[in-house]
Amino acid sequence: MTTAPMTTAPRVAPAKPRKTWPLSRRSARGWWPVTPWLAACSGAQSALAPGGREAEQLAQLFWWMAGGALAVWLVVMGLALYAAWAPPRQEQRGPRRLIVWGGVIVPTLTLTAVAVYGLWLLPGFLAPAAPGSLRIAVTGEQYWWRVRYLPSGKAPVELANEIRLPVGEAVEFALDSADVIHSFWIPALAGKMDMIPGRTTRLRLTPTRVGHYRGACAEYCGASHALMTFPVVVQEKAEFERWLAEQAAPARAPREPLGERGRDVFLGNGCGACHGVRGSPADGVIGPDLTHVGGRLSLAAGLLPNRPADFAAWVSATKTLKPGAHMPAFAMLPAPELEALSTYLEGLE
Ligand code: CUA
Repeated sequence: MTTAPMTTAPRVAPAKPRKTWPLSRRSARGWWPVTPWLAACSGAQSALAPGGREAEQLAQLFWWMAGGALAVWLVVMGLALYAAWAPPRQEQRGPRRLIVWGGVIVPTLTLTAVAVYGLWLLPGFLAPAAPGSLRIAVTGEQYWWRVRYLPSGKAPVELANEIRLPVGEAVEFALDSADVIHSFWIPALAGKMDMIPGRTTRLRLTPTRVGHYRGACAEYCGASHALMTFPVVVQEKAEFERWLAEQAAPARAPREPLGERGRDVFLGNGCGACHGVRGSPADGVIGPDLTHVGGRLSLAAGLLPNRPADFAAWVSATKTLKPGAHMPAFAMLPAPELEALSTYLEGLE
């Protein structure tokens, strides 16, 4: 069995770094105890570095809740310190007033205000996207994502493990599951939504910032739950339309003899029974559609970079790299056949 390079760094260009903490390196040195927490405020998978309207509202709610909790904590801690250190006094009216205000009135008002703000946001999150908006159906499977774009007036376009969205437009996701409960979450764009077998749930989001983001499964779904992620690209409308038209086209025929040999390996080993490659005899629907797999930003649902060596590693060691994956490992394929197969798949752009 091939020992596969266990690299998990996807070939996804990192989201443009945003200046979130205006400190020079020198003055930042004193902040080292809090840097692990500050690091969570940026990055491609942070709900606190929003790139979508819904995520912006959620981040705002988070900061109000954090501020409210801090206010209540400060008041209660102040009271506790007062109780511990204040000199004993005969007159009890002052301390009693402190307890009523600090222990009852301030916490109640603060928590009620935060609760009302959260409830006030709720109807906006639940409202469906306007008719005519882009619709995308995503099915969670152990451990990958089936993605179907449903452009109005056109045939559906199926792909897998990657989502691209036009900036500034509301998108409506229809979510379901083929096996167990998963949860669809792109933290930088919106809240999460469960994917439940036998039910269709929906999620609307509106990306506001062009960039690369990362989505993940947010519900424990089995051994490889943590390896079920996907890159998300928000791009300008024209660029997005071009990409979707490319995805709708059938697969490109191999251009070199090695690729042709790889196609024979693919078809000869029965890969087409599970995987579809539109425009070829492979019409399987069990596993991810591979029509344009070579053009994707990652392999195996965000697990590996999309390079020929990683293709070969993945095909020959699926169960080692992703425990519980349904695809059998093709460790018996000789190295030249693996190389040809990787060349063919990488050529499917
Ligand atoms: Cu799918 Cu966790």
